[in-house]
Amino acid sequence: LKLGVLISGRGTNLQALIDACAADAFPAEIALVVSNVGGAAGLERARKAGIHTLVIDHREFESRAKFDEAVASALETHDVGLVCLAGFLRILSKAFVDRWRDRIINIHPSLLPAFKGLHVHERVLEAGVRITGCTVHFIRPEMDEGPIIVQGAVPVLADDTPETLAGRVLEVEHRIYPLAVRLIAEGKARVVGDIVNLPALDA
Ligand code: GRF
Repeated sequence: LKLGVLISGRGTNLQALIDACAADAFPAEIALVVSNVGGAAGLERARKAGIHTLVIDHREFESRAKFDEAVASALETHDVGLVCLAGFLRILSKAFVDRWRDRIINIHPSLLPAFKGLHVHERVLEAGVRITGCTVHFIRPEMDEGPIIVQGAVPVLADDTPETLAGRVLEVEHRIYPLAVRLIAEGKARVVGDIVNLPALDA
């Protein structure tokens, strides 16, 4: 399965995918990394791994639709079968999301459907929940909506700051993102109705 990874920043989840794809038995490869930010650290990670990179700067487009079209055509040129959002900070148009329906996934640093949106770890601490985590899900036009593929949980500790909590969640992100990609590539995670049908996980 050919992956197209969209990033805007440091790219640690991209790195987790790069590392997973480096294993012989992993059923996917990264065909293209697109960043909407020129200086994104993730671009360097991709280049180091010999992966084709592209900067598509949204500020150079007159509309969201035109930007999305440029991204879509780059993905198609590289024969991408699954789009992975990894810290990509642009909202994608409904047209784009519909075009890639059930072939585009995101990772979010909470146990969805709780804590959609930004500043998740601050809000988790304010809410006083004792468990949080991360979610890989297929995307729908509404932000942080869509069929859930894999989740991982971590405890919230008494002395946590948003930073320590983010670090604990991030370690789990790096495990579940490659797992979700593998399940999709192996045909084990398929959308049925509007949820993901998973066989018993021996992963
Ligand atoms: C991660 O916390 C991810 O869950 C969220 O954005 C962050 C991206 O981090 N969507 P990185 O760029 O993968 O290091």
